[in-house]
Amino acid sequence: MNDPKINPDSIDMTRLPVHVAIIMDGNGRWARQRSMVRSEGHAEGVNSVNRITRLASDLGIRYLTLYAFSTENWKRPQAEVDTLMHLIGWTIRKETPDLVKNNVKIHLLGEIERLPEQVRNDLEAGREATRHCTGLNLNICLSYSSRWEITNAMRKIAEKVKTGTLSPEQITESTISDELSTVNIPDPDLLIRTGGEHRISNFLLWQCAYSELYFTPVLWPDFDNDCFIRALLDYQNRERRFGMTSDQVKQN
Ligand code: FPP
Repeated sequence: MNDPKINPDSIDMTRLPVHVAIIMDGNGRWARQRSMVRSEGHAEGVNSVNRITRLASDLGIRYLTLYAFSTENWKRPQAEVDTLMHLIGWTIRKETPDLVKNNVKIHLLGEIERLPEQVRNDLEAGREATRHCTGLNLNICLSYSSRWEITNAMRKIAEKVKTGTLSPEQITESTISDELSTVNIPDPDLLIRTGGEHRISNFLLWQCAYSELYFTPVLWPDFDNDCFIRALLDYQNRERRFGMTSDQVKQN
């Protein structure tokens, strides 16, 4: 990257996003640019996961949500899926002691039951070991897609209406939010996508209604601390209006 070095002190620590969500894209292209196989890009991507988790935790960000494996990713070649699964389980096993030391709590979002048993065991062990942690909440989305999540929520709500415990008139936005896997997690303030594409790819569609979107061409394995700080500074320059006028926001 040719961008000038960023001074972390330029961040306004009183206006940090509470929740940052990241679509980590570009591992495959990073590998291809170096004549490596795609899995080497994913392995390098894990270093970015560790680095950015550490920085988010050090900065005092409360929630970091990572899109690690989408429902659609099951359609990738079996060998790549196997490598990714292995890498995810191995990373959690290896990083759990450091996560505990840094007070980071793991949460899992998605159809975890679809993952191979060994990976589920590794994830469950990581979740259990960090259960008491009170610092950064690290939400790892695995076999996750927003439409899957919203469909599930609708089924649960329909069931309640069918059994008479809920009437259609009682359905509010919170009725829906409460049935999503992000229940009790505030909506993302900032959604970052690396790798140059400008789309949301079935990620937190309901929750990102008012998130600030930040797209960068930097490939995920190259996304370093400076890149993250640059995204935070960009976020801090935005005016979040939530449908109001600029004048109203200033008065508030
Ligand atoms: C997208 O890049 C990346 C993924 C599908 C996998 C991301 C997963 C990791 C970095 C491992 C995460 C591990 C933990 C424990 C959270 P791509 O392969 O679509 O890249 P391309 O668009 O360049 O092909």
